[in-house]
Amino acid sequence: MKLLVTGGAGFIGSNFVHYILKTYPDYEVVNLDALTYAGNLENLKELEGNPRHKFVKGDICDADLVDKLAKEVDIIVHFAAESHVDRSILDSAAFVRTNVIGTHTLLEAAKKAGNLRFHHVSTDEVFGSLGAQDAPFSETTPYDPRSPYSASKAGSDHLVRAYYHTHNLPVTISNCSNNYGPYHFPEKLIPLVITNLMEGKKIPVYGDGLQVRDWLHVEDHCRAIDTIIHKGKIGETYCVGGNGEKTNIEIVKTILGLLCRDESWIEYVEDRKGHDKRYAINFDKIKNELGWQPQITFEEGIEKTVAWFQANESWWKNIKSGEYEKYYQKQYKK
Ligand code: NAD
Ligand code: TYD
Repeated sequence: MKLLVTGGAGFIGSNFVHYILKTYPDYEVVNLDALTYAGNLENLKELEGNPRHKFVKGDICDADLVDKLAKEVDIIVHFAAESHVDRSILDSAAFVRTNVIGTHTLLEAAKKAGNLRFHHVSTDEVFGSLGAQDAPFSETTPYDPRSPYSASKAGSDHLVRAYYHTHNLPVTISNCSNNYGPYHFPEKLIPLVITNLMEGKKIPVYGDGLQVRDWLHVEDHCRAIDTIIHKGKIGETYCVGGNGEKTNIEIVKTILGLLCRDESWIEYVEDRKGHDKRYAINFDKIKNELGWQPQITFEEGIEKTVAWFQANESWWKNIKSGEYEKYYQKQYKK
C-alpha cells in the first residue's frame, strides 16, 4: 500500500509515518507537509535515505500538486491542519484556509483520482464542551464547535461526509481526544509544562486549571488510525479516546512530581477566551466493532513522555530557540 500522509512533519503525522513504516515493511509513504511553524523535519530525521519515505514540501491548498500526488497513491491519510486553539483565538484566517479549503482541495483530488480512499483525522473538540455530569461525546453527539479551531475542523468533517454522500468517496473519519507523546510541539500543555520546568520557567495555568481533557498517548492514536484504514467501514466515523480524563491541574501536578518540583512553579494566569470546560470520549464503537482500545495508561505514557523530553533536549531547545527552522531550511535546500 502507498499512502499520501498530509501533515506528516507535525506531531501526530510524524508519529504515524514512523509507526506505519515500522509496522508494514512493504508500505510506502508520500509525506506532504508545508512546514509551517509546526512542521519540523527533525521529526523525520531517522527516515533520511529511507526509500519507502518520500517527503514533499507543499501546501494542501495547492490543487495541481495534490492532484498529481493523489494519482500516485492508494489512500490519503489527512492530518495537515492548523491545530492550536490559542493561535486560532489570535488569528483564525490560516485555520479556515488550511482546515477547510485545504481539506476541500484534497477531497477534490481524491474524487478526480478515481474516488480514492480517504481517512480524515479530526478532533473531539468539534462536539463542544461538556458539563461535569454530561455523558461523554460519541459518534452521535451533535456538532457544537466553540473555538475558531474546532469550527474549522467541524467544517472539514462536514465536507468529508458530504463527499461520501454526494460523490460516494470512500471516506472514514476519526474524532480523537487530546494526544501527547514524542515530538509534541512545546506550545501545547504537556510539552510546555515539561520543557518550561526543564528550563527553570514557571507553568502558566489558565483560569482555575479545573478544565478536563481526555489524554491519549499518540502511539495509541496511530494504532487506532491503522485499525480504521484497514478494518473501518466506509462512510463511518469513529470516536477515539484514552479513558484518561484529567483536570489540567492534575496533569501539571503529575509532571511536577515526575520532575521532583513543588507547586511554587505553578502560575495561574488569565483564562483562555471561550475555554471549553470538559472533553470526554465514549470509544465503544471502535472497541466493539474494530477491536481497538488504548494500550498505554496515562501513568505509563506520561512517564515515558517526560523521559523522551529529557533524552531529546536538543529537539525541543531547537524549537524554543527557532533553530529548527534553520535545520529544515538547510535540509530543503539540498
Ligand atoms: P501539528 O500542528 O503538530 O502539525 C500539523 C502539520 O500540518 C505540521 O507539520 C504543518 O507543517 C502541517 N501543515 C499545516 N498547514 C499545512 C498546509 N496548508 N499544507 C500542508 N501541510 C500543512 O498538529 P497535530 O497535533 O499533529 O495534529 C494533526 C491532526 O490531528 C490535525 O488535523 C488535528 O486537528 C488532529 N488532532 C490533533 C489532536 C492533538 O491532541 N494534537 C487531537 C485530535 C486530533
Ligand atoms: P492544549 O494543549 O492547548 O490543548 P486543547 O486546548 O486543544 O485541549 O491545552 C490543554 C488544556 O490546557 C486546555 O484546557 C488549555 C490548558 N492550557 C493551560 O492551562 N496553560 C497553557 O499554557 C496551555 C498551552 C494550555
